[in-house]
This record gives sequence, C-alpha cells and structure tokens, in this order.
Amino acid sequence: MALLDVNDLCVRFATDDGDVHAVNHVNVSVDRGQVLGVVGESGSGKSQTWLSVMGLLARNGQASGSVKLDGEEILNLSNRQLSRLRGARMGMIFQDPMTALNPFLTVGRQMSEVLQWHAGMSRRAAAKRAIEALEAVHITGAERRLSMYPHEFSGGMRQRVMIAMALLTDPQLLICDEPTTALDVTVQMQILALLDELRQRFGTAIVLITHDLGVVAQIADRVTVMYGGRQIEQAEVHTLFDAYRHPYTEGLLGSVPRLDAPRTERLPTIPGHPPNLASMPAGCPFAPRCGYVMARCRQAMPPLEAVDGGAHLRACYYDGPLGKQEGVT
Ligand SMILES: Nc1ncnc2c1ncn2[C@@H]1O[C@H](COP(=O)(O)OP(=O)(O)OP(=O)(O)O)[C@@H](O)[C@H]1O
Ligand SMILES: [Mg+2]
Repeated sequence: MALLDVNDLCVRFATDDGDVHAVNHVNVSVDRGQVLGVVGESGSGKSQTWLSVMGLLARNGQASGSVKLDGEEILNLSNRQLSRLRGARMGMIFQDPMTALNPFLTVGRQMSEVLQWHAGMSRRAAAKRAIEALEAVHITGAERRLSMYPHEFSGGMRQRVMIAMALLTDPQLLICDEPTTALDVTVQMQILALLDELRQRFGTAIVLITHDLGVVAQIADRVTVMYGGRQIEQAEVHTLFDAYRHPYTEGLLGSVPRLDAPRTERLPTIPGHPPNLASMPAGCPFAPRCGYVMARCRQAMPPLEAVDGGAHLRACYYDGPLGKQEGVT
C-alpha cells in the first residue's frame, strides 16, 4: 500500500467571478522513501493540490475526492484532527521560511513548542530533540543556535531550520513547495542533497513542488506534470526526460536553461498564456498553445491514460512524433 493515495482530488474556489477550478481530478500516490516531483507553470494548481492534502486551503476553497495516508482518509477532517496530523505525520515547507517562522521567538523556543505541544515532551527533552534535528540538517553549533532569532540566519540556513522544524516529529511525508527557489544555485544544491539524505536516512517520503525541471532531474523518482489544474503527464523521472509523450512537457523541457547556452540568448518559452481556471475550455486546456492540436482536442479533455500499458501516463490524443513544436527548442 502506498503511503499517500490521492484519488480524484478536485479543488474549487468560490470567487465573485464564479468558481475557479484550481485542481481537477488528480490521481497520484507516493511511496515511503520516494520523491515525487510536481512540475508545471505558475498557476497550474501545484500548490493548491498539496495544500488541500495538508488541509490548508484558503477559506473560499473546497476540496473533494479522497486522500488516504496509510490507508486512512484524511481529506476534510476537522481542524483539530488535521492539526494533530500535520504536526505528527506530515509536514510542509515553503519557499519563504519566514512565512512559517515566528520572527519574535528564538528558534529553540519555536522548536520546543512544537515538541511540547505535539509530543508532550518536557522542556529538557524538547531541547535535546531540537539540537538533534538541527544537527540532522547539518547546522553546526546547534546548541548555541537555539537562542538565535530567525533573522540571524542566512536564507539557506533558515530553510534548513524550517526543514529541521518539520522533522521534529519524524513525519512520514514532507511536502516541499519551491523550497529552493529563493536560494542561489550552490545553496539550492545543498538543500536538495539534504532532502535526499533525509529520504535515505529516515525513509521520509517527499513531494517536491517546483517549476524547475533541473531540480526534479536531480532528486525525483517520479514526476507528475500539471497544466491548467490537471495532470497531463506522469512518469518515472528518466522516462519523462528521455521519452516524454505530451506536447506541454516538450515545451517545459525546452524551457530548461542550458548551461552551455550564451548568457544573452533568450530562454525558449512556450508561446501563449495558461488557461483561465474560472472558465475552462471544453477540451484540452493546452490546445490553444499546442503545436500538434487537432479538432477533437478542442471538443473533449483527453483522459489520463497509460502509455504502453505501464506506469507512464499522459492525457493527449496526439500519437505522432514529438520534437517539432514551433517556438520550442
Ligand atoms: N483563495 C483563492 N481564491 C481563488 N483562486 C485561488 C485561490 N488560491 C489559489 N487560487 C487559484 O488557483 C490556481 C492554482 O494556484 P496554485 O497556487 O496551485 O498555482 P501553482 O501551480 O502553485 O503556481 P506557482 O508556480 O505560481 O506557485 C491559480 O489560478 C490561483 O489563482
Ligand atoms: Mg505554488
């Protein structure tokens, strides 16, 4: 049994302009110790999918479908049940650690509070555990750091503190939403190496949300690609890079900056704009931008189906060769 099993997950937001269909019929599972990469352009529904799994949707949002953690349904639990679950069995870290850290409390105090609250630990036991967690994320001089405030840490260090906080209660699942986007490349590599190490040491399952396919290539086992609030392709990481089958994935791969490209060269981007999630087209949301579009693509959304009967899934009617989309290199 998968650690996390998401079935037919939908998220709608009620707005003055009508319902925003932010997430539509997502099916995905994550195994213990596995890293699932989630990629897609801005606004494709990456964050809302996983915020709904965490029970952290904005007030005007409503999730439907099923999310099972270790076989137990967790979607739309009460706030009380959710906060217990979030502290103990799953954690989430964000692009900007300052959104989750309290600037007025020392790091040690914040960590101890989590432990005293969720694990009922004594102050002394909590301090000891906090030091262990800081050491696990390779923060040196951990004991001394406990009395420091978040702003006294550099950006990369703050992200490590966030990860240490999330690890305090040994969660089975860690959801990371653009954890390295705000960091420079060297620090980004260190954080990715750290996540990889945690997965190996503690068997933590990791969901890594990013718009950066380079990040996914480094650490993910499997990747799900989202567009317009839908999954449009899902595959084992090497399959996705070497044998992608969706025109949008081709576009995304074309957008990966090439290290050997001259600095002045403009990055290839996919022409056109993402769909308006408040008034979705009847057919494939990518149809207006797709270089391979056919009449039927505008009539009905292609279902997410297995390619070659395997674990590689895609939602596209086009069966011919890829690699010749205009505006995409
Ligand atoms: N509270 C809300 N009310 C209405 N619409 C919302 C709300 N929160 C999010 N949305 C919409 O849901 C859609 C999906 O947003 P989401 O945050 O999941 O995108 P994303 O893929 O994470 O993008 P990014 O890469 O920019 O983080 C967007 O169109 C967004 O405007
Ligand atoms: Mg997001």
